[in-house]
Amino acid sequence: MKIIKKIDELRPIIKSWKREGLTIGLVPTMGYLHEGHKSLIDRAVKENDRVVVSDFVNPTQFAPNEDFETYPRDLDADAALCEAAGADVIFNPEPDEMYRDALTFVDMNKITKVLCGKTRPIHFSGVCTVVSKLFNIVTPDRAYFGQKDAQQLCVIKKMVEDLNFDIEIVGCPIVRESDGLAKSSRNTYLSPEERKAALCLSRSLEIGRRMAESGETDAKAITDAVRNEISKEPLARIDYVELVDLTTLEPLETVKKPLLCAIAVYIGKTRLIDNFIME
Ligand code: PAF
Repeated sequence: MKIIKKIDELRPIIKSWKREGLTIGLVPTMGYLHEGHKSLIDRAVKENDRVVVSDFVNPTQFAPNEDFETYPRDLDADAALCEAAGADVIFNPEPDEMYRDALTFVDMNKITKVLCGKTRPIHFSGVCTVVSKLFNIVTPDRAYFGQKDAQQLCVIKKMVEDLNFDIEIVGCPIVRESDGLAKSSRNTYLSPEERKAALCLSRSLEIGRRMAESGETDAKAITDAVRNEISKEPLARIDYVELVDLTTLEPLETVKKPLLCAIAVYIGKTRLIDNFIME
């Protein structure tokens, strides 16, 4: 497995794979890889002849008050995980390699302005820009994204449709710790006490899911029950709890599939997200 830092070094490799008629899977990540990322890489390895994992903490998706500087990084551990999982290349550019003198950015209306977009107004423009660039550099047949970032997955699917990228977007299920906490690189920010408190996310969503599955049709009754469970946790502060259409991300009054019940909750200073989807 190779670690490549330059676009001009990666392109000839991609071209030679294409000449051989090999299929390419891309797993875009910001590194500090965990079991959730591994599940994406495993699936990409299974479904493609060659796999590129991008490992790039993308500055344009962080606002100045966010955690770009402190976001955890460990390229050696990432390389070991990718090698063991059977990836062929880690693409690990410096910010300057990706953005030197850049004046062009990809933006999207509507579905980037709700849910996480309300508290993170520039986030999805940064995500769409870097993912477009990665798509143009790697030209994959398939690209793999986790359902934990459900809004991101929805935004990427829409971007691929709108900008005519000839790429299949594969959404992969959330991977959880044994006690239910969704795996996230940001879990490393939690103190032991906060780590326990963070279980209110998965616990509250489980209550909501059970209500929806057992026939509750009032969306507000479900989001109220989720809010109520989170509010019992003193270290938790709700950013949002919403039940929306999975494609348009418009709020639902009545439970109707496909739906996304998405939450963002601050545990101390750490903002965590989680969700359940019913298709
Ligand atoms: O989900 C992430 O880790 C990032 O948002 C992504 C898709 C790699 C873009 O930087």
